[in-house]
Amino acid sequence: MSIKSVPTRGRTLDGAASIYDFCEPLLLLGKQKEMNDLVISLMQIEPSHRILDIGCGTGFITHLASRNVSAAESGYVLGIDAAGKMIEEARKLRGTETCRFEAVAAEDLPYEDSSFDSVFSTMFYHHIPLDLKLKSLKEAYRVLKPGGRLVIADMHKPTSFFGALTSHISRWLLFQPQIAENIKGLMPDVMVEAGFKEPELVKTYLGYIAIFSTQKNQ
Ligand SMILES: C[S@@+](CC[C@H](N)C(=O)[O-])C[C@H]1O[C@@H](n2cnc3c(N)ncnc32)[C@H](O)[C@@H]1O
Repeated sequence: MSIKSVPTRGRTLDGAASIYDFCEPLLLLGKQKEMNDLVISLMQIEPSHRILDIGCGTGFITHLASRNVSAAESGYVLGIDAAGKMIEEARKLRGTETCRFEAVAAEDLPYEDSSFDSVFSTMFYHHIPLDLKLKSLKEAYRVLKPGGRLVIADMHKPTSFFGALTSHISRWLLFQPQIAENIKGLMPDVMVEAGFKEPELVKTYLGYIAIFSTQKNQ
């Protein structure tokens, strides 16, 4: 069944859904597994947890995270993406009782307050403009339980010549002005503005990707 994309000012990737799983590991130059493992370990997932993956694409990491939850304990990981084609692909390849996917915009989450134990997002926030970054992070804060953890892996202020080159080439070649805000290092400030505690920069990869971990106040 074809799934409708959700209107958004973010840059969606409907056109890339069928080739995304092939391209992403190449772009991350062999670091994908280490990054994914770190993001998942930072959430300290328990079998009963309900977890939200924002901008999940084809759901590769959603599925990895779902191995840590149990259907018997009502745990699940829910991946959301505004691109209908991404959600179709994700459901076809990886949909299970504990690994669910919905076509939803990150800036307008149709979920109840305090309904998730953790929220995570990988390589998504450079796809949306600054006002939507803030709106989406406020939504993440709202749907998290008090004390719940937010883990984000995304483009950040470059720390090497290679990182700067990659970031600026991506920004101009992909006509993606939203990347500029990540390059300026604005993500931690936006997380704090959305209500989160001061984020910890846990690790950087390839000189342009940072992993942040923070929490909603108790
Ligand atoms: C680079 S992909 C990241 C996919 C996956 N998280 C990963 O790490 O491989 C960014 C995704 O964000 C989605 N996207 C763009 N704007 C969005 C929005 N406003 N709400 C939800 N998803 C959005 C795109 O369709 C795309 O699938």
